[in-house]
Amino acid sequence: MMQANQTKNRKSILIVDDEESIRQVMQNILEMEGYHIETASSADDARVRLEGNSFQLILSDINMPGESGLDLVRYVFDKYDNIAAIMVTAVDDPSLAEAMFEIGVYDYITKPISRSSVIISVKNALHRRELELSNKNYRDGLEKMVTDRTTSLQSLMHQLRETIDGVIQTIALTVETRDPYTAGHQRRVANLARAIAVEMKLSNESVEGTYLAGLIHDLGKISIPAEILSKPGRLTVNEFNLIKDHPRTGFDILKDIKFPWPIANLVLQHHERYDGSGYPNGISKDDILLEARIISVADVVEAIASHRPYRPSLGIDIALEEISKNAGITYDPDVTKICIELFKKKGFTF
Ligand SMILES: [Fe+2]
Repeated sequence: MMQANQTKNRKSILIVDDEESIRQVMQNILEMEGYHIETASSADDARVRLEGNSFQLILSDINMPGESGLDLVRYVFDKYDNIAAIMVTAVDDPSLAEAMFEIGVYDYITKPISRSSVIISVKNALHRRELELSNKNYRDGLEKMVTDRTTSLQSLMHQLRETIDGVIQTIALTVETRDPYTAGHQRRVANLARAIAVEMKLSNESVEGTYLAGLIHDLGKISIPAEILSKPGRLTVNEFNLIKDHPRTGFDILKDIKFPWPIANLVLQHHERYDGSGYPNGISKDDILLEARIISVADVVEAIASHRPYRPSLGIDIALEEISKNAGITYDPDVTKICIELFKKKGFTF
């Protein structure tokens, strides 16, 4: 019993009524129940009491000189969190009751005041307030937990992506240090391939996959002797056959890494041709991944437009002419069209 009273003592209730006798009666009833009570004789008086005090419940008369009890309660709901309200009224009017419930009043007590109705109504209101508060806390807690977990998952994903990017950049640099003639080739191919993928409205995922695969598409060249790679002049058939192994070698190196993109397959397919005349598998059209069709066009354009060991740059116009002439034959017609537009209309440069 002592324990129960102590708990109840913590509940503070503000009673607002212009009639002193009513205030007194209600105060007595509720103090007997162990509540802490403050009283106010008007809405203005109530505002002063509300400042700096924390009430769990306000019990307010409706009809008072000056501001009405309903306006006071509206103000309280607006300004203070988590205060429950019960109205006290001389008339039992259902339409008034509806207006009260609409603004969030829990209950109303009609005069003359009956001890049991005050106690029941107050206990109910405080109980309902507790339930609503614990519900709200639970919801807020859940929301916060979901937000926190989502944020940490996102930052983990971001870190992971950065790690993968870093690994791929490092692989790209490794290839390029062995083969100075194609230094920068992979980066430029990756940039052009990414621009084509963006223009073709591929998903962000695919755009990134295209770019990263572009960055290491010639990885397999690390197994080709450097003197063949940098040989000026024509290659022998055997030398050319060695070079043709590089997509497969790159695939073999990458195939067991679980990238979020089909990087190994894109590397494998970057010398396949639209009409099936490419290598290593001679696959054609849609059997070649779209991102690989993009990389192969970017690869050819970059290769023709830049200096090679066996010839100087032929320039971008010759490069675009080559893909234009073979659009729909060796090169995907849509990819070719977008690539040409990028250079001729959108100002793309290497
Ligand atoms: Fe290649």
